[in-house]
Amino acid sequence: MCGMTTTSDRPAADVLAAFEAAKGFMPLDEGLALYAAAVEAGALGLPLLEVGTYCGRSTILLADAARAAGVSALTVDHHRGSEEQQPGWEYHDPETVDPVVGLMDTLPTFRRTLHAAGLEDHVVALVGKSPRVAKAWGGKLGLVFIDGGHTDEHATADYEGWAPHVAEGGLLLIHDVFPVKHDEWTGQAPYRVYLRALESGAFTEVSVCDSLRVLRRTGPGI
Ligand SMILES: C[S@@+](CC[C@H](N)C(=O)[O-])C[C@H]1O[C@@H](n2cnc3c(N)ncnc32)[C@H](O)[C@@H]1O
Repeated sequence: MCGMTTTSDRPAADVLAAFEAAKGFMPLDEGLALYAAAVEAGALGLPLLEVGTYCGRSTILLADAARAAGVSALTVDHHRGSEEQQPGWEYHDPETVDPVVGLMDTLPTFRRTLHAAGLEDHVVALVGKSPRVAKAWGGKLGLVFIDGGHTDEHATADYEGWAPHVAEGGLLLIHDVFPVKHDEWTGQAPYRVYLRALESGAFTEVSVCDSLRVLRRTGPGI
């Protein structure tokens, strides 16, 4: 259990059930911390953005918080999977492979996940490579949740592409932050990005829940 959560910080039982039923990588405790941060950030009245949709497990929580705040949850993914999710690697799920194309495609499962949760109306899916989508995005965001590729190349591009859009007082969340090497794939690129955000002076740590870090924008830049 990470920190105290009040009833208003927790999603409704049906949303929590949809989250727990969804395919994906977000553990419950971190999910509840993500949800509490999203509820808080929703008060800014700006969209809440996730990098790394996969099959929509964490998106459910952002979407529910967005619904409560009257904003949209945006979620970015090329839906072809990260390195560690490819065939032959530890986190591969054969059900995510499109038999026609012969590549991973998590978009259909994501859509089924959101439909089952009753949250389709509150989510905008942005399908493409994160740096390319970030380049096309011009607005401020109340929250950015980075849970995309875990190589230095991808984690750094996610930070450089999306952190500039976090509004003053808004939140930057980074998943899979491991100060000590965890495994080959969820290595330490997210940790290095987290350190960079703190060292920039633009972000201040708000809370820690296992491998999830919540930072607030308290200054300009990245
Ligand atoms: C760890 S999974 C996300 C897990 C998800 N948030 C959950 O709760 O289950 C990472 C996702 O990031 C996506 N991804 C990796 N690199 C990306 C990139 N450069 N642009 C867009 N999506 C990317 C992968 O396709 C994968 O679906």
